[in-house]
This record gives sequence, C-alpha cells and structure tokens, in this order.
Amino acid sequence: MVELALPKNSKISEGKTWNEPEGKGTWREFRVYRWNPDDTENPRIDTYSVNLDECGPMVLDALIKIKNEIDSTLTFRRSCREGICGSCAMNIDGTNTLACTQGMDEIKGTVKIYPLPHQPVVKDLVPDLTNFYAQHRAIEPWLQTETTPPPSEWRQSREDREKLDGLYECILCACCSTSCPSYWWNSDRYLGPAALLQAYRWVIDSRDEETGKRLDFLEDPFRLYRCHTILNCTKSCPKGLNPAKAIAELKKKTVERRF
Ligand code: SF4
Ligand code: SF4
Ligand code: FES
Repeated sequence: MVELALPKNSKISEGKTWNEPEGKGTWREFRVYRWNPDDTENPRIDTYSVNLDECGPMVLDALIKIKNEIDSTLTFRRSCREGICGSCAMNIDGTNTLACTQGMDEIKGTVKIYPLPHQPVVKDLVPDLTNFYAQHRAIEPWLQTETTPPPSEWRQSREDREKLDGLYECILCACCSTSCPSYWWNSDRYLGPAALLQAYRWVIDSRDEETGKRLDFLEDPFRLYRCHTILNCTKSCPKGLNPAKAIAELKKKTVERRF
C-alpha cells in the first residue's frame, strides 16, 4: 500500500543549541543537519553560533571551527579547501555547492546546511556516493584504443584538445546529479549529469577509438534519455560547467550516427 505520510523515523526534529553568542563579535547562526547511524534517534537540526571575527570567510571555515572548538562529533568531508577535490559538497542555503568556495558573505541570515539531497546519509553531512561512483565507472572513463600504441604518447592537435575544455575540469563533486529531479527518482537507472558529462568527454576525445561502443551503452531509455532538460544541473555546478549541454550533445550524437 502506498504510504502518503513520511515514515516516523525520517522526520527531522529540533536538536541542541551550542555556544550561544557571548561578548563582542560578529556572530552568525548555523543550523546544521545531524544524524548518527549508531543511535536510534531521528535526524535533528543543531544550532551553532560562530564569531565570524575569529573565523575564515568560507562556510567550510565555520564548519571546521565548530568541529575544532564547539562540537567534535560534527561529521563532514573535506580535503583540499580550494574547490579541487569535490569532497566538501553539501546543500548550503538551499543550493548544492562546495563549502570551501561558498563565502559566508554571500548568504543572508542563518546559514542552513544539509547533506547533498536524495542520497543515503552515512552520518551528518556525509552522503553515501557509492552509486554515484559506480555510475562514473560504468561509462569507462579512460582512453580506449585498438591501434598499436605510439612509442611515446598519443598525440592530439591543439584544436582537438580544446574540445575537452569545460569537461575535463569536472571534480565529481555530485552537486549536479543530486540537484537533478530525474536523478532523484531514477538514480538506479539514469546515469545523471556528472557521469554523462564524463561520458561526453570521452566520446569527443579525438584519441579514443571506442566511440561507437560508448554510444551503444548510452542508447537506452534510462541511462541517457531520462534527462528532461530541466537544467538544475548546470545551475548548481560550482565549477561553472554545463552538464545539460553535454547531455544534449550526446543525444545529438546518438541520432546523427543513424544517418
Ligand atoms: S538538464 Fe537533465 S541532467 Fe540536468 S537537471 Fe535537468 S534532467 Fe537533470
Ligand atoms: S559537472 Fe560540476 S557539479 Fe557536476 S560533478 Fe562535475 S564539477 Fe560537480
Ligand atoms: S575541500 Fe576540496 S573541494 Fe572543498
């Protein structure tokens, strides 16, 4: 039977308030999603106050300060702090983005932080991206050739290399895929914008010799054609890439090869 109400254990409750503002300073409130798989509690929203006069300018700086000085149990991923590794992707103020490149001055009022949407949660702000990475692997993101390899390296003209601009920069942060409604409902069968952008990157690589095989794999009612051009993906990409355009180009390629 269809369950129209949310199950009891999925409801988010009000959590703890930590570190109320005290003394002089520029205080900012952070409302952060918390969930711990090791207890039986529902998810909750904890509230932290941070003195921005003693904190770096990015949302990740505030999260690190909270973890170091206020609540060491807060769990999130991060590594490079420079928008390169993609690990600090989360939903901030209603938008999927990188905490390390999201300035606090770009957000008005309370900063609301949740994990990337529509993915299972491992703990707090850490989503389970197992399926996302498996989809990336499924498009075989490596150079495939049949001719005898050249003695040193596969060469590419400057013009052909430039065709990869706007594609190779993807850091696999998953902001795009987890903002895509088609991916929310069909992530078991639809590859999603991140994997498809990567698929396109290899389809148009002049050195690759398996274009036909790559397009055969994508020619499927779900893997590629579940994209309905809603464009949330492009809007949310923190690297300014355009996965929706890459998907449109892939669709064009699958049609063109029929004639
Ligand atoms: S354009 Fe396609 S991939 Fe991007 S959000 Fe829309 S449906 Fe998803
Ligand atoms: S296309 Fe952009 S949003 Fe999507 S995974 Fe790559 S960098 Fe992240
Ligand atoms: S910490 Fe690497 S992208 Fe944010």
